[in-house]
Amino acid sequence: MSQTENTMDQIVALCKRRGFLFQSSEIYGGINGFWDYGPLGTELKRNVRNSWWADMIGRHDEINCPEGAPSAYSMVGIESSIIMHPQVWKCSGHYDLFHDFMVDCTESKKRYRFDHVKGRWAEAEKKTRGVDGQPGTSEQMKVFITTMDAGEETEQQLVEKALKFFGLKAKYKDQIDWQGEIMPLEKLDDLSQAVAPDASRVGTMTEPREFNLMFKTTLGALGGAEDAAFLRPETAQGMFVNFKNVVDSSRVKLPFGICQIGKSFRNEITPRNFTFRSREFEQMEIEFFCRPDESAKWYEYWRNRRFAWYTSLGIGSDKLQLREHHKEELAHYSVGTADIEYAFPFLTPGEFGELEGVAHRGDFDLRSHMEGKLDGNLKLQLDENGQPKHRGSGKDLSYFDDQARERFVPHVIEPSAGADRATLAFLCEAYTVDEAPDDKGEMQTRTLLKFHPRLAPVKAAIFPLIKKEGMPETAAKIYAEFREAGLNVDYDQQGAIGRRYRRHDEIGTPYCITVDGQTADDQTVTVRDRDTLEQVRVPINKLTEEILTRLKG
Ligand code: GAP
Repeated sequence: MSQTENTMDQIVALCKRRGFLFQSSEIYGGINGFWDYGPLGTELKRNVRNSWWADMIGRHDEINCPEGAPSAYSMVGIESSIIMHPQVWKCSGHYDLFHDFMVDCTESKKRYRFDHVKGRWAEAEKKTRGVDGQPGTSEQMKVFITTMDAGEETEQQLVEKALKFFGLKAKYKDQIDWQGEIMPLEKLDDLSQAVAPDASRVGTMTEPREFNLMFKTTLGALGGAEDAAFLRPETAQGMFVNFKNVVDSSRVKLPFGICQIGKSFRNEITPRNFTFRSREFEQMEIEFFCRPDESAKWYEYWRNRRFAWYTSLGIGSDKLQLREHHKEELAHYSVGTADIEYAFPFLTPGEFGELEGVAHRGDFDLRSHMEGKLDGNLKLQLDENGQPKHRGSGKDLSYFDDQARERFVPHVIEPSAGADRATLAFLCEAYTVDEAPDDKGEMQTRTLLKFHPRLAPVKAAIFPLIKKEGMPETAAKIYAEFREAGLNVDYDQQGAIGRRYRRHDEIGTPYCITVDGQTADDQTVTVRDRDTLEQVRVPINKLTEEILTRLKG
C-alpha cells in the first residue's frame, strides 16, 4: 500500500470512528455514491457552509468596494427547488449534453466509466486446467489487460490481473511480454481484444454507451412519459431562471451576485474516492451578473477571491493550485475558466483534484432561457425541420442600466464550489500526526485534526481535573456560559487528563480548558492550545471573551 493510500485509509477510518462520515444505509450493506454525515461531520460541514455564506454574502459590504474588486457590488441569496420545469434542463444543455460514456462487462456485470479504465498489451501462454479428467490447454495469446486507473498503483494492478488471466503464479511473471505503454482504454480500436478489469475472459466488454447523468423521476400519481422530471444536477439554473424575479423584487443593480447552497444529484457511473465523487452532493454556487464590457475584470477578481477563501481557512497554498483551462477548451464566448484544485491524498503525488470551477459564461445561460437552446457559437440550435430544438421561455431576461441608459443581457461569472469536496479537503488538510508528551512527560505519537478554529466542529472542551473539590460544578458553569454564547463546546470528566486532551485533538477541538486546584484560589483556569500545546492561565470572568477572540482566527 502506498503512503498516499495509507493516509487516506487512516482519514476514512478516523471519520467513521469519531462520527464524521458513514456510508449511507450501512446496515443494509451501503449504497454506492451516497454518504451520511455523523454528529461531528454535520457540525464541520455546517461550518464550511456557514463560512462560505458569511464570507460571500452575510458579511459582504456592498457600499464599500472590497479589496481587489473592480467596483462595489451586491450579493443576495436564494433557495430554489430541486425539481424544476423539464424545459430548464433542455435549455441549459443538460438534457442533450450531460453525458458520460460507460462500458459494461457481460461477465462480471460491472459498469465502468470509459475514461477511467487503463490498460496495456500483454502476450504470454494462457494455461487452463483440465476438467473431468480432460487435459488442460495452453494457447499463446496477446490481449489488452485493463484495470481502473489507480495512479502509481496502476502498473502493479495490471501485473496482478495479467497473472490471473494467463493462469500464472507470481514467480513466473517474467513470462509475460508487455508491449507498448499503459494507455487509456478509449484509445483501443477494438474492445473485443480487451480483458475487462474484473473478467477472466477476453472480449466481455460492451461498446461504450452514452449515459445521462441526471436522475429521472415522475411527477404525480398517474405519471406518464410527459410527467418525467429530473433532480437538478447543479443549483446554478435556479439562479438563472430567477434572475428577473430578483431584479424586479429587490433593489439590486448590476453588478450583483445571486448565491445558493443546495443539494445536487448526478448519477455518476463510478462514484469514488470517499465523498469526492458522490451521486448526491451539495454545491455552493454564485452566479455573478455584470456588464459585458466589465466581465473580464470580474472573472479575474472572482478567480483570485475564491482561491484566497480556501487559504484563509487553512489550506496550504502549496497544496492548492489555480489551473486555467487552455484556450481551446473554452467556449468561444468565454474569456476563461479556471479550476481551483487540491492535492487530495488519494491522488498520486503531483496530481490535483477539482474543488471549484470559476467560469466566465458570457450571456449564454440567460439568452438560452430567453430564446431557446443555443449552440457554442451562440446561435439558436435548430432541429431537422429548421425549428428551435428546445424553445426558451420567451421572457425578456435583459437588464436596463439606468445610468448608461442601455439595455443588454448581462454576462455571468460563475464560481461553483462543492460543499462536500471542500469539507473533504479541509479534513485531509487538517489530518496531522505528530508527537506530544503524555501525562508522564514521555513523548507519544498523537493524531490531530488541525482545523481552522472557524471550521472546528467542537470549539472548546471543558475539563474538571478531578471529580471533587467543587471542580465539576465550576466546569459545568463555564460549559453553560459557552453554550449560552452559542458555542458548540464539550464537557468531559472521564479518564486521565492526557487521554481527554488526545480525544479532543483527534476531532480537532482548538482549545481545552481545565479547572484545577488553583481555580478555587484565584478564579483562573488553564487554556491549552491544540497545535502549540501551550497552556496559559485565564481569569474565568474573561474566558468567554478570550475564546471568542481566538476563534475569529
Ligand atoms: N454550475 C457549474 C457546475 O455545476 P461542476 O464543475 O460540474 O460545475 C461544480 O461542479 C463543483 O461541484 C465541482 O467543482 C465539485 O466541487 C462539485 N461536484 C461536482 N460533481 C460532484 C460529485 N459528483 N460529487 C461531489 N462534488 C461534486
